[in-house]
Amino acid sequence: MATLLIRNIGLLVQAEKHPRSVVKGADMSHLPVLPRAFLLVENDRIAAFGPMERSPARADTILDASGRMVFPSWCDSHTHLVFAAPRDEEFVDRIRGLSYEEIALRGGGILNSARRLRQVSEEALVESAWQRLCEVIAQGTGAIEIKSGYGLNTESELKMLRVIRRLKALSPIPVKATFLGAHALPEEYRNRRNEYIDLIVHQMLPRVAQEQLAEYCDVFCDRGFFSPQETERILQAAWTYGLKPRIHANELANSGGVQVGIANGAVSVDHLECIGAEEIALLRDSPTLPTLLPGCAFFLGIPYAPARQMIDAGLPVVLASDYNPGSAPSGRMAFVVALACIQMRMTPEEAINAATINGARALELETDYGSIAIGKKANLFITRPMSSVAQIPYFFGTDPVETVILNGQVWKGT
Ligand code: NIG
Ligand code: FE
Repeated sequence: MATLLIRNIGLLVQAEKHPRSVVKGADMSHLPVLPRAFLLVENDRIAAFGPMERSPARADTILDASGRMVFPSWCDSHTHLVFAAPRDEEFVDRIRGLSYEEIALRGGGILNSARRLRQVSEEALVESAWQRLCEVIAQGTGAIEIKSGYGLNTESELKMLRVIRRLKALSPIPVKATFLGAHALPEEYRNRRNEYIDLIVHQMLPRVAQEQLAEYCDVFCDRGFFSPQETERILQAAWTYGLKPRIHANELANSGGVQVGIANGAVSVDHLECIGAEEIALLRDSPTLPTLLPGCAFFLGIPYAPARQMIDAGLPVVLASDYNPGSAPSGRMAFVVALACIQMRMTPEEAINAATINGARALELETDYGSIAIGKKANLFITRPMSSVAQIPYFFGTDPVETVILNGQVWKGT
């Protein structure tokens, strides 16, 4: 048995004696921490932790974390990290005054990404996505979800999902796959909306299920993209293949996405920049998680989701990166935590709960990830010298991660 011991930890963060599966409302401000601690890992799992006085003396590998904090890895439950090319020209167009929706209406945006992705081989997509996955792992992400949605035809959607399957096989961290055929209406189906939805329902979903390429089904349910009725049709078909919904909702308008997500048993409704008291009340009475993506609001310059109202209403807020080439070209979760604090007035404790245990719950991985608890997987990181959790958002431009440990071993990069 291989053992790894981290000694002299300045602050052990999110260390739970009684593991919680999700943290809601007022409880989100409670983040269990242990000063001057040790952490023992046996093989790939957490075996013990406690005050330094009780630390074992020996282990195969010993790390000293004096003046540093130890965190469970971030759990990023919403990304689009497989894509063919950046969209920095559109970024500059937005600086000059065009909106995200105007760019999409001109055939840019998601359709631009789809044109490029269709021309790139599976091999090349694996190569670039693997680089991005390694980048976010180095930034502390220890469990992740990845979506398709830049193929927008059967062949290219399956290609994207096969890329994700290959990433799963390569990856030292768990990867959950989501089929997002309904990300935008492809150009060749302009004025034939129903036929594209038929294609998703009758051709793409059966193939995705047959090849077991995804656990979840997503729809971009929003103004200018897919309506609640169209979303419902796709989600109901997805359920018949055992694909659970997790959807994009209420980013551009309050257009019924939250309602359709809840009604169809979505694991999570994501974005929520445009929600009101009615949607918050519905979420309070449902198991569907509200996932906020402040990197998108930051990058697009749109209003942030009302995180404060949601937490004050008792909701279990989740934070994720939305890493994608159009609305959030960054997967750095420490920056997402900083935005949550600085722009949405979440406290550091709330934001860290949202990005760890609640993120794990949104990935349906909370029994193994999302906190420091005995028996959980040893996916964690040691920070640079830092003395309080508030310093994570405070030093918003500094990546706090110094050493990454995955499956009980120090991660050395690719
Ligand atoms: O979550 N809103 C829809 N999908 C992505 C953006 C995709 C893109 O612009 O490429 C998002 O923001
Ligand atoms: Fe997204």
